[in-house]
Amino acid sequence: MTTRTTPFPEGFLWGASTAAHQIEGNNTNSDWWRKEHDPAAGIQEPSLDACDSYHRWEQDMDLLASLGFTDYRFSVEWARIEPARGHFSQAEIAHYRRMVEGALARGLRPMVTLHHFTVPRWFEDFGGWTAEGAVELFARYVEECAPIIAEGVRHVCTINEPNMIAVMAGLAKSGDRGFPPAGLPTPDEETTHAVIAAHHAAVKAVRGINADIRVGWTIANQVYQSLPGAEDVTAAYRHPREDVFIEAARGDDWIGVQSYTRTKIGPEGPIPAPADAERTLTQWEYYPTAVGDALRHTAEVAGPGLPLIVTENGIATADDTRRVDYYTGALDAVAACLDDSLDIQGYLAWSALDNYEWGTFKATFGLISVDPVTFERTAKPSAAWLGAMGRSRALPRV
Ligand code: FCB
Repeated sequence: MTTRTTPFPEGFLWGASTAAHQIEGNNTNSDWWRKEHDPAAGIQEPSLDACDSYHRWEQDMDLLASLGFTDYRFSVEWARIEPARGHFSQAEIAHYRRMVEGALARGLRPMVTLHHFTVPRWFEDFGGWTAEGAVELFARYVEECAPIIAEGVRHVCTINEPNMIAVMAGLAKSGDRGFPPAGLPTPDEETTHAVIAAHHAAVKAVRGINADIRVGWTIANQVYQSLPGAEDVTAAYRHPREDVFIEAARGDDWIGVQSYTRTKIGPEGPIPAPADAERTLTQWEYYPTAVGDALRHTAEVAGPGLPLIVTENGIATADDTRRVDYYTGALDAVAACLDDSLDIQGYLAWSALDNYEWGTFKATFGLISVDPVTFERTAKPSAAWLGAMGRSRALPRV
């Protein structure tokens, strides 16, 4: 299919990403678990056992390593580590440390996310991100994660998609507690300020744990494309939803770029994709080259000196040949960015497993399928195809 390749730069990360709540199962002490069981929240289905990765993480890592991946991004769960305010579970900290060591033993470099959407119930009851003292509470939790990340972890993500957190807070204020659609409603400004402050406090805490850790955060990129004449509207739309979070990453060691589709903006705001456009299981427009636009835009806003890592990119589909097609287009766009000298230091696909996609198991993003009853894992053809690039250390060009 491909005739040309672009070699990976030295040390390039090549892997897949997951998030604790989406794969572990029985994360009963988190705000999301509560929401999933609240009929008023209108969540389609609860996470329950998810992929049972809390018990089966070794199988997940064995598979990823055997497929050829060299990196694995996973998150640790605040609600398990600090089940009650100020009480830290040494058993859970030891559990996540075993995961770090298990990854290293398999030749997978762990990238650890400290916060991926879920918070402990007590933190939600306390008032969440905008409550007085929230930033300090998050920073204390990060400090308590020291035994997990102090050795052998090169990359730490403080907070996943802070822009989605701010959008979800905005939705919650308007009475909607679900997961936001692409295009993104208005983020809550107070939450934006709070998560930026929490990120900066966490960066400091991580550097205090080990100054060699490379710390950053990961931003949801919607790839806003302006229709002719709507450039100002687009910029004004994008700034509070994306750019403000990219700007806040200046001074970090890297920034995570996460993209799936695009959003066109006209003079009145977002324009839905045409009725005949191909759509994925999440109803997002099939648009594989989005990641290239997201990388270029992030580099432009962040300015020089901030390396980029694609920390999520993928497609929800039941047809694995469309997944290979999507990744082919996406990686061609990444390779073109590398050829243009963008400082891209890794590519982590979303997602390692078919998992709990914030309300449903039907949106299958996984390279590996999971039997809902036996939890047996089966690598899809796309997983073998993508993993093999880790061995050849080259990206396809189409
Ligand atoms: C991102 C989230 C991730 C997953 C993908 C599809 O917004 O970070 O958990 O849900 O989208």
